[in-house]
Amino acid sequence: MNIPQPLIEKLRSARSVAVLTGAGVSAESGIPTFRDSQNSLWAKYRPEELASPAAFQRDPRLVWEWYDWRLQLVNQASPNPAHAALAEMEARIPDFRLITQNVDGLHQRAGSQNVVELHGSLRRARCTQEQCTFEHSSLIEDQLPTCSNCGALLRPDVVWFGETLPAAALAAAVEAAHSCEVFFSVGTSGMVEPAASLPYEALRRGAVVVEVNPLPTPLAVYTPYSFAAPAGVFLPELVRAVWPD
Ligand code: OAD
Repeated sequence: MNIPQPLIEKLRSARSVAVLTGAGVSAESGIPTFRDSQNSLWAKYRPEELASPAAFQRDPRLVWEWYDWRLQLVNQASPNPAHAALAEMEARIPDFRLITQNVDGLHQRAGSQNVVELHGSLRRARCTQEQCTFEHSSLIEDQLPTCSNCGALLRPDVVWFGETLPAAALAAAVEAAHSCEVFFSVGTSGMVEPAASLPYEALRRGAVVVEVNPLPTPLAVYTPYSFAAPAGVFLPELVRAVWPD
């Protein structure tokens, strides 16, 4: 992949870099994405039937079984070279912020330390009454999981359609987009707000924006650095080009 020298030099000297990732960064780990493949996560059900408060109200077991199916997929998967490259970038760049829409925890398993989870995590459950959270590693059994404090039903600690994002995570993501010198958008269709606006916020503040996605997205026309490549191929090449030592 030909990586323009100006981008290499910009990254080599950058002090502050932000990265937004979506499901595409986990595609090479074998995790289906949402929208761009026939074996998508939503092949059997429409998303509103699963990832919404109404769906959980209507059939909490169906919703828990879907998320646990995804958790099993993730537990059987490994981080791929894209995740590893992002963990290396974090080690090399003084102020590196990784913002993810993914709930699979693969960035952390690849060694990324400081991950902003905009949409929550499959690895956590949250009390439907008190909002306290618990680690969720085992799959649900006969009884649906309940809060050890108050006995209320637990739910997956992920953002559902129609819900607001965790305020602290969103604030951190916006601050990163506003203060970075280089903003990467990796493996996201850019269809879901407010995450989709982050690259444009960075552009507005004068950052260099880089997109990595095999398919074109609306962002591509706003930057000369839109690379039609799998993240697991492009990001390791970029890291080797910027830090050849
Ligand atoms: P999508 O499935 O909408 O988009 C995945 C993107 O990854 C597509 O644009 C693909 O072209 C791209 N892609 C596929 N393979 C890739 C690879 N190897 N390297 C790089 N890119 C690749 O997933 P998201 O954009 O993450 O939200 O979806 C955003 C949100 O929509 C999700 O977080 C979820 C969903 O509703 C919630 O559940 C709240």
